[in-house]
Amino acid sequence: MATADVTFGFSCGRSKLDEYLVQRAASNNVAGWSATSVVLEGLRVVGFVTTVPAAVEAKLVRKVIRNLPGYPAPVLLLARMGANLEDRGRGVGPLLMDVAYRGAVELADRFGCVGLLTHAKAAGEGQPDARPYYAGLGFAVVEEPATEGDPTTMFLTMAKVREKLAAG
Ligand SMILES: CC(C)(COP(=O)(O)OP(=O)(O)OC[C@H]1O[C@@H](n2cnc3c(N)ncnc32)[C@H](O)[C@@H]1OP(=O)(O)O)[C@@H](O)C(=O)NCCC(=O)NCCS
Repeated sequence: MATADVTFGFSCGRSKLDEYLVQRAASNNVAGWSATSVVLEGLRVVGFVTTVPAAVEAKLVRKVIRNLPGYPAPVLLLARMGANLEDRGRGVGPLLMDVAYRGAVELADRFGCVGLLTHAKAAGEGQPDARPYYAGLGFAVVEEPATEGDPTTMFLTMAKVREKLAAG
């Protein structure tokens, strides 16, 4: 993402995500605090995805990766993602996920990464629960929300990430 990208008027239906994109994503990129990539139509942003390398307790992902050592497990955190409401159904989502898959492979090949982790948001602001969306992509639930309405922690192994990329 570049500071010249036009985010004015962007709405994915979730105000916190919109605010993040408009107010913080570009400066966080410059600061190196996270990496936001965008799908553009001309200069206009129609979708964005924010990723951050992270480490999680091995026991969180041991349910889906056998023989994982007990050290903190390196993951790529799919921290935020949104497609502009008016641009839904135009293939923006798959392009955003492609960025995340490629980022995970790059991280795995250079530094180690066991998969993609996300905190799928519960239904809110007229948007559906994101959990079925990620489940449809092959993500497994690795931690249920402590309280109803909190996000669900979901995980896609590197093997599945590579399968997705190989399938095109
Ligand atoms: C998640 C999001 C980025 C996907 O973008 P998109 O462009 O709609 O995605 P895709 O084109 O890949 O997928 C569209 C398909 O997924 C389905 N879908 C979208 N959100 C879904 C959900 N929460 N649960 C189940 N299915 C969902 C759509 O109905 C559509 O199905 P179809 O192809 O059978 O018509 C977009 O829905 C969005 O911005 N949502 C609001 C923000 C959000 O919840 N972000 C995730 C936070 S964890």
